[in-house]
Amino acid sequence: MTLLEIENRQSKIVNRPRRLRATPAIRAMVRETELNARDFIYPLFVRHGQGRSEIRSMPGVYQLSVEESVREAEAAIRSGVNAVVLFGIPKAKDPIGLENFSEDGIVQQAIRAIKKEFPEMVVVTDVCLCEYTDHGHCGILNTGEHFHRGLPEGYVLNDETLDVLAKVAISHAECGADIIAPSGMMDGMVSTIRAGLDFAGYENLPILSYAVKYASSFYGPFRDAAEGAPKFGDRKSHQMDPANVCEALREAAIDVDEGADMLMVKPALAYLDVIRVVKDAFPELPMAAYNVSGEYSMIKAAAQNGWVDEEKVTLETLTAIKRAGADLIITYHAVDAARWLSA
Ligand code: PBG
Repeated sequence: MTLLEIENRQSKIVNRPRRLRATPAIRAMVRETELNARDFIYPLFVRHGQGRSEIRSMPGVYQLSVEESVREAEAAIRSGVNAVVLFGIPKAKDPIGLENFSEDGIVQQAIRAIKKEFPEMVVVTDVCLCEYTDHGHCGILNTGEHFHRGLPEGYVLNDETLDVLAKVAISHAECGADIIAPSGMMDGMVSTIRAGLDFAGYENLPILSYAVKYASSFYGPFRDAAEGAPKFGDRKSHQMDPANVCEALREAAIDVDEGADMLMVKPALAYLDVIRVVKDAFPELPMAAYNVSGEYSMIKAAAQNGWVDEEKVTLETLTAIKRAGADLIITYHAVDAARWLSA
């Protein structure tokens, strides 16, 4: 063939991205995002008493006794997931949430039990007041002896709450927690907890800050699970407005400044753009995203109806969260996803 003949035979289409999609092996070579069980953090709900009870709005997720939480931690490790985050349901609730920093608190018991059985497991603890207070709010309320004129009755008081958060964090540290994760969106929570931990001798304990947490309706099922729904009002005076993204950069910058070791964006799925901008602004910090209860339950419900394939939709969702910039993903699907990935 002459050069001219070759040129004439050439297709008009030069760029054919399909060439790199032709076989599974080539597709695997050029895959940009890979899920890994080591990136997952598995949430556990721990309560007093025996056995386990399934959460109505979260099929496959349970409130666990201390013993059952150890069993679930074992299932996680077997699947390749090496981190859990603990939420506690106390025996009794009161305006401050005293069990939250009690030596015999439910989370304190669970940390000790899990660390005893599995010292290598990374135990993250959620630090907030809402599961422990009788009013279900994330802080001490503006009422009674704490009343501040100039703030509305029932407003969540910021600085009074910080002292409690520091106490809770120290109490978790004393039981052997590996990472402290404050989720209450109080101003100054990272620096207060950092100071408290340092003072108590835990200067090496990392803080994973729920830096960018929205006032989201996707937390509905969690509030069943943790029995922490507010008895009145909402969380809009401290959690972020879902409409805002520039503000996410401010929240993240403040927490970095205060000494956060890792950042979190929450929820994940409806906030992939936020994950991306925060990761781009602070690439030097590992970033977590919380694939929250409502996101989990939507997939579960659709899968139970036969409308979507649970495995495929879940892995696609988790891949998207990672692709958006999350290094770590907190997900109720952690153990299932890890099993699917290794199957
Ligand atoms: C607060 C906390 C909440 C969640 C995690 N930590 C609830 C809230 O802010 O109202 C929600 C997680 C989920 O929906 O899966 N302790």
